[in-house]
Amino acid sequence: MLDLDLAALRPRLGDRALFPDLEPFAYLNHAAISPPSRLVRAALHRCIDDYAARGAGALLTWLEQRARLRGELAALIGAEFAEIGLTMGTSPGLTAVALGVPWRAGERVVLFEGEFPANVTPWLQAAALFELTPVMLPLADFEASHARGLERLEATLRAGARLVAVSAVQFQSGLRMPVAEIAALAHRYGAELAVDAIQACGVVPIDVRAEGVDYLACGAHKWLMGVEGAGFLYVARERAAALRPATASWLSHEDPVRFLFEGAGHLRYDRPIRARADQVEGSAANLLGHVALAAALAPIRELGVAAIFEHVQGYLDALEGPLQARGFVSRRAPEAAARSGILSVVPPPGVELPGLHRRLLAEGVACTTPDGHLRFAPHWPNDQAEAPRVLAAIDRALAG
Ligand SMILES: Cc1ncc(COP(=O)(O)O)c(C=O)c1O
Repeated sequence: MLDLDLAALRPRLGDRALFPDLEPFAYLNHAAISPPSRLVRAALHRCIDDYAARGAGALLTWLEQRARLRGELAALIGAEFAEIGLTMGTSPGLTAVALGVPWRAGERVVLFEGEFPANVTPWLQAAALFELTPVMLPLADFEASHARGLERLEATLRAGARLVAVSAVQFQSGLRMPVAEIAALAHRYGAELAVDAIQACGVVPIDVRAEGVDYLACGAHKWLMGVEGAGFLYVARERAAALRPATASWLSHEDPVRFLFEGAGHLRYDRPIRARADQVEGSAANLLGHVALAAALAPIRELGVAAIFEHVQGYLDALEGPLQARGFVSRRAPEAAARSGILSVVPPPGVELPGLHRRLLAEGVACTTPDGHLRFAPHWPNDQAEAPRVLAAIDRALAG
C-alpha cells in the first residue's frame, strides 16, 4: 500500500502530500520530533520485509545501504566519507568525543548556560572522570549580538581551554550560533570545537570544512526527518588519530567480521581499532533507524537545505509580526545569520503557557513549550498559507 505512487510523489516546498496521516493542520514541531514521510515508512517496510524473508541473508544488502548513507551525510555537511560514523543519536556521538579526547587533568572545557543538556552532561561527565574544569558562559552575550558573544568567548579562551562545545542552533531561543567564528577563535587559542547540530542539520546550511568544525554530532529525528534512535558523528580527519576509542567494541576493529566468515584462526582481539569516526559503530546497529534516515534525506537533498531555510524563514516571517502584535515577545534574532528554523516567543503576561499549548493542540496546531517559550518549528512540508489559520487558532486559544 505504502509503495504505491511513491515515484510520483516528488517533494515540493509547502506540500505535505508525503505526510497523509498527519493530524494537526499545522505541524510546527520539527525541532522536537518529525513525523515519518511515506518514503520513510515505505523504506522501513522494505527493510523489515527483507529481514522477514531472508533473516541474516539480508544483512549485506542493508550494510551497503548504510555505507551509502555515510556518504550522503558527508555530502550534507561538507565532510568526507571517512569522517562520518553512524550512531544512535546526538548524545552517543558527543559522549564518544567527550570520553575520547586525550585530556590532561586541569584542562578547561567551555560550555554554555542554557544549552540543551545533551551538550552539557557528556562534558560534565568527562570533567568528573578526567579532572577537567568546566567553564559555563552565558548565552545572553550571543543573544545580544554575535560580536558581543565572541568577545566574551575570546576573553575566556585567552585564559586557556582544551575544547569548546556549542549547539549550532539553540533549542530554546532558536539562536543560530556563529560556528565558523567560534571555531576560528577556538583554534587561535589552541582549543578544539565540538558542535551539537541536531537543531541545524536539514534546515540550516552547514559546511564543517569551511566552518572549521572538529567534531559534530547529530540525531535523525528532528530536521533530518528520520526516526528516534539514529544519528551520526563527524570527526575531522586530522583529529581522528588522537581520539581515544573509549566507546569502541567488536565492530570498531579493522576487519571485524573475518572470524565469522573466513574459517578457523581469525578470532583475535588485537586487530587495530579504526582511527576514524566510524570507530563509534562498535555494535550491531540500529539498522531501521539508519534506513529511515537514508529515506528521509532524499527530499532534503532534492530540495536543498538553502532553499528549505528560505522557505522556513518565509513561514516564520508570516507568524512573527502578528504574534508580536498580540503581545508575544519574540526571541528570534534580527539578523539573518543568527536565525534558524525556530521561532520562540514568550507569551504575554498573565497567559498560562501549558493551558495555551493544550488549547492550540486541540485547535490543530502542534508546537512545543521549552522552558517557558512557545516554540514554532515548521519545515519544508509546511505551507505558508497555514499561517493565518495558526494565528486564528492562537486567538481562540488565548480567548479560551
Ligand atoms: C540541542 C539538542 N541536542 C540534543 C538533543 C537530543 O539528543 P539525542 O539525539 O541524544 O536524544 C536535542 C533534543 O532532543 C536538542 O535540542
